[in-house]
Amino acid sequence: MDFEIKYKDAMGRVGKFKTPHGTVTTPALMPVVHPGKQTLDVKKFGAEIVITNSYIIYKNEELKKKALEEGVHSLIDFPGTIETDSGSFQLSVYGDIDITNEEVIKFQEAIGTDIGTSLDIPTAPYVKREEAEEDLEITIKRAEEASRVRSNLLLNSVVQGSTFPDLREKCAKEIAQYDADIYPIGAVVPLMEMYRYADLVDAVIYSMRGLPENKPRHLMGAGHPMVFALAVAMGCDLFDSAAYILYANKDRFMMPEGTLKLEDLIEMPCSCRVCTEYTVDELKQMDKEKRAKLIAEHNLHVSFAEIRRIRQAIVDGELMKLVELRCRSHPFLLDGLRRLKEYQQDMEKLNPSSKKTAFFYTGYESLSRPEVSKHIKCLNNLKPKNKNLVILPHTRKPYSKYVHREYIKKYTPKIPTFYSNNDTYLDYSNSDVVVADVPFGIIPLSLDEYYPLAQNESPSIHDEDSKQFIRNAIDEYTTIYDNILIHRKVMDKFDLKGYNLVEEELELPDAIVSDFDRLKDIADYQFGTGAGTALFGDNPDNITIEKSRKTKKIRHVFEDGANIVNMRANDGFLILSDLGAIRLHEFFDAPHMRVVVTEDSEPFALKGKSVFNKFVMDCDENIRRNDEVLIVNKDDKLLAFGKSLLSSYEINDFMSGQAIKTRKWKNPRE
Ligand code: GUN
Ligand code: ZN
Repeated sequence: MDFEIKYKDAMGRVGKFKTPHGTVTTPALMPVVHPGKQTLDVKKFGAEIVITNSYIIYKNEELKKKALEEGVHSLIDFPGTIETDSGSFQLSVYGDIDITNEEVIKFQEAIGTDIGTSLDIPTAPYVKREEAEEDLEITIKRAEEASRVRSNLLLNSVVQGSTFPDLREKCAKEIAQYDADIYPIGAVVPLMEMYRYADLVDAVIYSMRGLPENKPRHLMGAGHPMVFALAVAMGCDLFDSAAYILYANKDRFMMPEGTLKLEDLIEMPCSCRVCTEYTVDELKQMDKEKRAKLIAEHNLHVSFAEIRRIRQAIVDGELMKLVELRCRSHPFLLDGLRRLKEYQQDMEKLNPSSKKTAFFYTGYESLSRPEVSKHIKCLNNLKPKNKNLVILPHTRKPYSKYVHREYIKKYTPKIPTFYSNNDTYLDYSNSDVVVADVPFGIIPLSLDEYYPLAQNESPSIHDEDSKQFIRNAIDEYTTIYDNILIHRKVMDKFDLKGYNLVEEELELPDAIVSDFDRLKDIADYQFGTGAGTALFGDNPDNITIEKSRKTKKIRHVFEDGANIVNMRANDGFLILSDLGAIRLHEFFDAPHMRVVVTEDSEPFALKGKSVFNKFVMDCDENIRRNDEVLIVNKDDKLLAFGKSLLSSYEINDFMSGQAIKTRKWKNPRE
């Protein structure tokens, strides 16, 4: 089964896969349909896929007969994709079931299920390690057997391993060899029931470390909309909800922020049909069955709405903002979010390098988003140009346009404004100038139009964690400078200590970044140290820069009439042109920026056709979605260049779909 990624944010994906009964867009919610007693018509809610239980069908003579004769789609009256579970859950509840793994696979195939599940063993959390290991061995054997005995059935292969992170990862790696179609993460229901979200995050992320990127993952038994965003941000694509009925039977309303009890309500909680057509009193007076059906309708409505919202957030690049919002509604969910901080690097590996919308800071957890650590890493690509550093507070953006006006005065101010690490008078007219700001710490003026340094907002009243974060960033960054001058506002805002007030007259820089220096810094930051010189040389006179008449921003860069790079307006990224690609290819050794394609696909790449994942033999591990890449053959001959649509980790795992959107050579070559 081919799974295709359309949009990405954090580890989350909007994707599509096809089954014999239709296309499913992910993230998707699979309502649980009981084969004997369905209360709601889930088709009306936009369900493309549902889940039902093959063991319940198997155990009931009437259902079994009907399913074998007419198929499961007719049995539950659902024409779209059907996934079936195997009875593992019953096994975990009752301790024993009377069907073998092979029998349950064959049975699912016989009733025409689209996606079937092997008989994994859901090991409870916090058991003894030996127990988890023994269970795991059986789960892995059954996954292998299932892949052998199925013929056309698409297969679920469940990751187990209880709360032992290494067992989760080991299980995922082993079952991934047996080529299933979907990888559920199992036995997490007890964790969610206990509100152990930090442990849930551990279990999910360690499972992800062992799973391939090219298959959907199903977080089994996760049916509450308040966990969807967090789970999607960790790479989960599918959810199943029996909760919409179970909660409704107990008069509970699911909301993306948590659960409400009918008995506590004086107002209906949302704008769905049920909440607008009925009052709380009407519901309370209704007979129980009718009421449960209406609340189930509300629950399903809210759950699907949350899935749609998550998809939109991924397209917009705002998934982490949504996750932070959701996790703030319950302290234990907040534990989950805080635990996720430990896995910032896992997230960075799959996070796009540019996004459509601005980075909105919602609290100190936002400092753990991968954009922040990536910035700190890329900042190391820039080498200091002077021995002196001036640190200014933020202004309106872009900083370079406003700092001069607001903070740089060329004569002694009446009130001393600067602090220094140096007692003696110093001339700061030759200095590097940076701004210190939340959430990115240090921002050189040359990078003030680059995503996300220009496209972010944070509150002007800082929390203690942000202050500490900025102090650390300043400490780290200033080690490469001899003399440091810090504006009073920075000292005050971030409670900096250990600098002396400067009362002497100072010569301060103009703090205007030349276009040439700006280009070179961006190139180093985006492509790696030295890229600026490789692309543009050392003499500004050789380079022609064309700017937008409207925005005054750099648009095109030429040398002797040949286009080197263009600057993308929305994120300030440098986009390679022929000459730029040739120069970076010459300057950087493989594998830096490289995507190596097979011999058969060389002619296509040369013609400017998109590169498909199956033709990629190898690629630079550091490539992320939206990065500029060099397309080469196995001898490192430059064939083309373009924009990556995926992270290197995805390109390596996917065998279908596009990897690189290639740009056409403008100048005819050779
Ligand atoms: N439903 C909820 N949890 C699980 C699990 O771990 N395995 C299976 N097969 N179904 C589940
Ligand atoms: Zn409602």
